[in-house]
Amino acid sequence: MCGIVGYVGRRECAPILLEGLGQLEYRGYDSAGLAVCGPAGLRVVRKAGRLGALREAMPRRLAGRTGIAHTRWATQGEPSDGNAHPHLDASGRIAIVHNGIIENAPVLRARLGAAGVELASETDSEVLAHLIAAELAPDRPLEDAVRRALAAVEGTYGLAVLDRDRPETIVAARNGAPVIVGVGEREMLVASDIAALVRHTTQVVHLDDGELAVLDRDGFRTLALDATPTQKRPFSIDWSLEQYDRDGYAHFMRKEIHEQPAALRRALSGRIDERFATAHLGGVGLSPREVLAIRRVKLLGCGTAYYAGLAGAQLIEGLARIPADAEPASEFRYRNPVIEPDVLYVAVSQSGETADTLAAVHEVQRKGGQVLGVVNVVGSSIARACDGIYLHAGPEVSVASTKVFTSMLASIGLLALGLGRVRDLGPADGARLIRGLRRLPEQVEQVLAREAEVAAVAAQIAEARSMLFVGRNRGYPIALEGAQKLKEISYIHAEAYQASELKHGPLALVSPELPTLLVIPDDELFDKSIATAQQIRARRGPLVAVGQERAAAAQAASVAAGEPLFDALLEVPRSEPELDPVLLVVPLQLLAYHASVLLGRDVDQPRNLAKSVTVE
Ligand code: M6R
Repeated sequence: MCGIVGYVGRRECAPILLEGLGQLEYRGYDSAGLAVCGPAGLRVVRKAGRLGALREAMPRRLAGRTGIAHTRWATQGEPSDGNAHPHLDASGRIAIVHNGIIENAPVLRARLGAAGVELASETDSEVLAHLIAAELAPDRPLEDAVRRALAAVEGTYGLAVLDRDRPETIVAARNGAPVIVGVGEREMLVASDIAALVRHTTQVVHLDDGELAVLDRDGFRTLALDATPTQKRPFSIDWSLEQYDRDGYAHFMRKEIHEQPAALRRALSGRIDERFATAHLGGVGLSPREVLAIRRVKLLGCGTAYYAGLAGAQLIEGLARIPADAEPASEFRYRNPVIEPDVLYVAVSQSGETADTLAAVHEVQRKGGQVLGVVNVVGSSIARACDGIYLHAGPEVSVASTKVFTSMLASIGLLALGLGRVRDLGPADGARLIRGLRRLPEQVEQVLAREAEVAAVAAQIAEARSMLFVGRNRGYPIALEGAQKLKEISYIHAEAYQASELKHGPLALVSPELPTLLVIPDDELFDKSIATAQQIRARRGPLVAVGQERAAAAQAASVAAGEPLFDALLEVPRSEPELDPVLLVVPLQLLAYHASVLLGRDVDQPRNLAKSVTVE
């Protein structure tokens, strides 16, 4: 969603702000702008479009050592220069950048209008600048004006505020949208994402909801909305600038697909307890007695994280023999769910900032339930809201999630092992799965080595207008994820079904114009999946399969008989059956990637999407 970066310190800030915005580019946006306080007063530059447009619009010199900047992802008001942030109050003294949604903006706009204030944009955010300006008073610190203004505001905000008349200070505030303070050497930064800070500091402080920070070049202090000081100590982050580099790859997505073996090794590192053939559940904080009391596990996540939850539920149910299912976090709270004390809820999220997933966590906690997080970004909102497991996948920059999906599966696999050890999983099965987990990174490398085969299939797929993805049992979440990848970055319409559902409706669509991708692991349903393949072939539907040894044997036999079963087979090695999804998904990631490249799409920043969805 929107990105924020602010700087106060000893250096000229405009280049720092522009570079920070560049680091936030991956999140997706439609306009950008910055405000700088300097000898010429408070100056603002805003531009619709990508960062290049803002760079071109920059004056030759924009001097000043305090500034705030923003990338916008339009929610209210079209993407335009006028709707881009920063927004000013009517006198041009206060500048704000805002991430989130002011829900009572219509009421506030009307109130301001009645008081004679003319609003210059169509955004909800602009009201904040006017409200803060109205609270300014001699001898009243800026943070007090911000606090008083926020008392009238309903909604979510990550906010940074600049006052032309107090150019040595930035005030930031958070409610429901991330705000991170970066502590430097005689300089302070504020951002919505660690990416904008890593070049300057590794010392960060996450604000909590209802908290403000006051920054000057020498330090920061934090306070609650009622002005009570809060105590915050910086902690170190281990993500570095290099990890935000494409490292010679044309796109972050391909780089991240190829990082999967390393990410998996990190996810497993130090977490396997060979002695008891199980996983350490450090961070999970459940005693054996508490594990025994779990009657059901529910995984919550959005998009790819939800699909990881579906696959994860199968792992937990299969290994720990605890009934488990997954539900989209975006719908969860709206059905007023009954929260039961003996249900373990697991929130799955790369960013740890997805508003819907965070709201689901709050829903469970508000009703007394317990939630674990399976999260990539250290210190993120979900990670701070609950105990859980970090993925250690490193920063994921491409909007399309890839390495984090496989890391989620491996991490939930570890959780399943840990729960299973206390429950039903015997040591022999534990040892078998540990061997399987340890082999995964190398097996993913083998799949990646066959990228050229996938690229050739992508050339055929790229011509399709629509595509079906089908799979059964463990293949189904992978079919869902394959369809998701294809549609979000190639814009080819794609739908996923359980292969068993095909004959109940979607088979009507199958024709020479509609390719189907069948996920067909060597599992107990293999013969039934072959029957599905035959049904598709009987209707002359183009068919690509992602399978293993048995699919390769079936294909070889059908080719020998002169009637190939599949137009193409993308073969992956066999793992332990429970872990096969980790391998089966990799060709689907590559397929979407190459189709997107062939179609000339913006692979890393697909239209209309953002990396971290911090609004509803
Ligand atoms: O940061 P999260 O994992 O919570 O994000 C959830 C989804 O928004 C995300 O997985 C989205 O579906 C991706 N674009 C998928 O590639």
